[in-house]
Amino acid sequence: MKLRHIVLALAAAGLSFAATAQEQIVIKFSHVVAKETPKGKAADFFALKAGELTKGKVKVEVFANSTLYKDKEEMEALQLGAVHMLAPSLAKFGPLGVKEFEAFDLPYIFDGYDSLRKVTNGPLGKSLMAKLEPKGIKGLAYWDNGFKSFSANTPIKTPADLKGKKMRIQSSKVLEEQMRTIGSLPQVMAFSEVYQALQTGVVDGTENPISNLYTQKMHEVQKHLTLTEHGYLGYAVLVNKKFWDGLPADTRKQLEDAMEQSTRYANQIAKVENDNALEAVKKSGKTTVYQPTEAEKREFKKALAPVHQKMESRVGKELIQSIYKETGFNPAKL
Ligand code: LMR
Repeated sequence: MKLRHIVLALAAAGLSFAATAQEQIVIKFSHVVAKETPKGKAADFFALKAGELTKGKVKVEVFANSTLYKDKEEMEALQLGAVHMLAPSLAKFGPLGVKEFEAFDLPYIFDGYDSLRKVTNGPLGKSLMAKLEPKGIKGLAYWDNGFKSFSANTPIKTPADLKGKKMRIQSSKVLEEQMRTIGSLPQVMAFSEVYQALQTGVVDGTENPISNLYTQKMHEVQKHLTLTEHGYLGYAVLVNKKFWDGLPADTRKQLEDAMEQSTRYANQIAKVENDNALEAVKKSGKTTVYQPTEAEKREFKKALAPVHQKMESRVGKELIQSIYKETGFNPAKL
């Protein structure tokens, strides 16, 4: 009984009792999406690889679909050491006080996975991760999901179609500004609550890559989906820093290898998963999928362009300029 209390106390302090003992090290990995999404599959892949490469010394327990923690609670739980790993969307770091990650939310800032990769694989990606360390968090990798599209209960062909609509967003000021800029009413809400909010009319619409929309069955409660692909959604894989640093060096190295393989896997499957989800949504016949014309897409770009400048004070003008430079993005072309 007494030993159990000591173990609990150490765990609560984010210290690794198991790391110094011979027994198995358990890593709790919590996330909010379904198992059959790019992130869900990559987390399960990491659990498999971690077990293989450490020859069973490490057991990664994955808790999908907010079964352990919801959006708001999971960051806190990570800092306390109640959970060891997370992979929150880059749009969810504001409440932690690291608002620079919200640069990833700027509309149309990446025109594809390649330009995104220039940021995440380069010095900018690294310097953003470093901002987490004073918070007791270590960033291990960036994992892709994909590009978000708007859905609602009425057709969306122009930005004006979203005017006055209540739109669920993640906890990002950039996303808030994005919605306000086109006249929508943004509502921050945990991912686990979105389906019900759409079903009951608490909100009229939302935005997400199709893999998230489909696996949460949002297409059953949204009549229209327009493939605007107006913003990126990706993840930072995080660990409790104290826990990570307390692992035996050889084990940590094996886990780093497992993470490297998992990152490659995650970024390989993301697009395919979203393409498959789109096909499944179309086949379901529950929502009308609209492919905007080039002229309509341009309208969305033009309407959302002011968000970049408006958010300079939030995420940092210098950071935004550095991203433009890295990707070759020209804001004048929006
Ligand atoms: C959301 O909350 O809309 C998504 O970021 C969920 C996720 O983690 O993909």
